[in-house]
Amino acid sequence: MANEAQQEYWNGEVGERWAERDDFMARLLEPAAFALLEKISPISGIDAIDIGCGGGSQTMTLAEKIGMGGSVLGVDISEPLLSRARQRAIHTESKRADVEFLKTDASTNQFTANSVDLLFSRFGVMFFDDPVAAFANLRHALRPDGNLGFCCWREKSANDWINLPYQAIRSYLPEQIEEDPCAPGPFAFARHEYVSEVLENAGFSGVQITPCDVPMSFGPSRGIQDAVKELTMTGPIAKLMADLSDDIRARAFEGVVEALEPNYSDGMVALSGAIWLVTASK
Ligand SMILES: C[S@@+](CC[C@H](N)C(=O)[O-])C[C@H]1O[C@@H](n2cnc3c(N)ncnc32)[C@H](O)[C@@H]1O
Repeated sequence: MANEAQQEYWNGEVGERWAERDDFMARLLEPAAFALLEKISPISGIDAIDIGCGGGSQTMTLAEKIGMGGSVLGVDISEPLLSRARQRAIHTESKRADVEFLKTDASTNQFTANSVDLLFSRFGVMFFDDPVAAFANLRHALRPDGNLGFCCWREKSANDWINLPYQAIRSYLPEQIEEDPCAPGPFAFARHEYVSEVLENAGFSGVQITPCDVPMSFGPSRGIQDAVKELTMTGPIAKLMADLSDDIRARAFEGVVEALEPNYSDGMVALSGAIWLVTASK
C-alpha cells in the first residue's frame, strides 16, 4: 500500500488527538489559510479538490470563497479527521460551494481526468512517499487551464513555534538521528528548490514559491502553563515530548515555559510561522 506509514500515523493516536483538538488547530492555522486564499484568489463557481483536508476547516473557508455553483472535494486518508470534517460541513450553513469528503489516498486515487479547476492544500501535501508520482496523479484531475495552490512549512529554524520550544527541550532529548530532510513529514518541502523540482518533474509549469510569515497564537489560556501545554501537544514537539520519561518531560516542559515567557501576554503565547505559498499551472 502507498504511504503506509502515514496511513497508520494519521489514523492512530495523532489523528485522533488532532480531531479532538481540531477547533484549536483550525484557529491556529487560519492565518495560513487566509494568506493562501489571498494569493490564489479563487474565482467564484469553480470546482476544487482540497488535498489532505484533515478536519475540513479550510475546506469550508475555500467553499465559502468559491460560493454557490462551485464544488470542493476534500480528500484525506484519516478517518478521525474526516469524521470531524463531515460534522463541520453539516453544521456550517452559508452560501457556499457544495462540499463532499472522500477517504482516499490523494497520491493514487483515480480522480476524473480534467474535472477540476483548482488543486488546493493547507499543509496536506508534504506526506507522500513518492511526491513526483503523487503530484503527477493529481495534475490529471486538473482542467487544461487549472491551477495548483498550497502552503507548506519553511525550514524549522525559521519557524519560532517549533524552533523556540525545540531549543528549550534540546538538552533533555536523546541524541537525534539525522533524517533525510525531504522524507515525508511536515518539513519535507522546506527547501523551495526541491519543491520546484518535484512540481516540474510532475509536469506543472509556472511554479511560483513565495515566502510568507503568519502569526501562530497558542491560547487563549488562564496562564502561560496552559498555553504552553497546547503548544507542546502540537506537531513534532508533541512527538519528541511523548518519548521522554515523565520526570524529564516535566523538566523539559518547565524549560519551554521559561523560554516562552517573553512571548506570553493576554492569555496567548504569540509566535510566528514561516511558510511557502506555492502556485503552479497545469
Ligand atoms: C498537517 S495535516 C493538515 C490538515 C488540514 N489540511 C489542515 O490544514 O488543518 C495533514 C493532513 O494530510 C493528510 N494526508 C497525509 N497523506 C495523505 C495522502 N496521501 N492522501 C490524502 N491525505 C493525506 C493527513 O491525514 C492529514 O489530515
